[in-house]
Amino acid sequence: MKVNGTPMRTIWLARDGWSVEIIDQTRLPHRLETVSLLSAADTAHAIRDMLVRGAPLIGATAAYGMALAARVDASDAGLARAHDLLLATRPTAVNLRWALDGMMACLRPLAAADRPARAYARAAEIAEEDVAINAAIGRHGLAVLEEIRARKPAGEPLNVLTHCNAGWLATVDWGTATAPLYMAHDKGLPVHVWVDETRPRNQGASLTAWELGNHGVPHTVIVDNAGGHLMQHGLVDVVIVGSDRTTATGDVCNKIGTYLKALAAHDTGVPFYVALPSPTIDFTLSDGVADIPIEQRSADEVAKISGLTDAGTVETVSLLPDGSPAANYAFDVTPARLVTGLITERGVAPASRAGIACLFPDRAA
Ligand code: MRU
Repeated sequence: MKVNGTPMRTIWLARDGWSVEIIDQTRLPHRLETVSLLSAADTAHAIRDMLVRGAPLIGATAAYGMALAARVDASDAGLARAHDLLLATRPTAVNLRWALDGMMACLRPLAAADRPARAYARAAEIAEEDVAINAAIGRHGLAVLEEIRARKPAGEPLNVLTHCNAGWLATVDWGTATAPLYMAHDKGLPVHVWVDETRPRNQGASLTAWELGNHGVPHTVIVDNAGGHLMQHGLVDVVIVGSDRTTATGDVCNKIGTYLKALAAHDTGVPFYVALPSPTIDFTLSDGVADIPIEQRSADEVAKISGLTDAGTVETVSLLPDGSPAANYAFDVTPARLVTGLITERGVAPASRAGIACLFPDRAA
């Protein structure tokens, strides 16, 4: 998508042909800085400390991490070490395991000498596939938005609420939840996006608002607790969020607070869609609440906040009284019964085992 009018992706191979460039998302929205990844250890740090984040981008970055590892040590033991190092970075988004296991399956049968080149090629394929998948999600999601918009009086914008950042910054390009929004906007459909700030790390306020603004999509940032009120007053036509892991039965795990939005949407009759690429579906799981591992991050992310001062410096301040403990659950699970539909690269499915299996019979089996 565009930054200052110029198309940009979130990850790319550097001019040297082997190191990997990423946008350091911890510096946004106030600074646009890139970072070079030179090793699997750099890659693990970038994922763990959230320089890159978002399920699809975590997967693509990990794939490049395997390529960086293979460049140095392409033995079975070397690849296994890199796989385990990268897999331990974050527990919830299943795209990480999907990408790492896929890299291992692709490299293991090869002679060690052939592995580095194949690893780079496969990582590039994963990145390109992600772009194509998200573009397809965008097309299917656009049809959903157009149908909802057609039920509104002419001239009124379509009000969409989204949570966290399931935008192009969470993927290689387009985003999942945002792909239909970008396509609608580019097509001239009047869209306005309510952007949940998404405490504690503010992915909505810092990232979604930044990318929508750069692409010229009208939006308003709201506090996380505002969504229910807006829905009660008819100010939200549809909710679209992303997913970090979706069970074979359609339960959806996404950024903490998503479940509360789904409850409010259910109570007020607002359609609640989840946009997700198929690598986010964990076909081994049936019960999201019981089975999906929920990441718990540092309490500091709740206890402190960073922002731009009037003097132009970025500073971090404390929010809590001395001694107050904080808990930081990073994700929650929205049961399938609260989800109106899953928007995937193969079309829109009911959030159910049958709905998912109908679109992905090859993988569900
Ligand atoms: O902790 P994060 O920022 O990695 O969480 C990201 C999300 O929850 C996104 O909504 C999800 O990965 C879907 S992204 C297309």
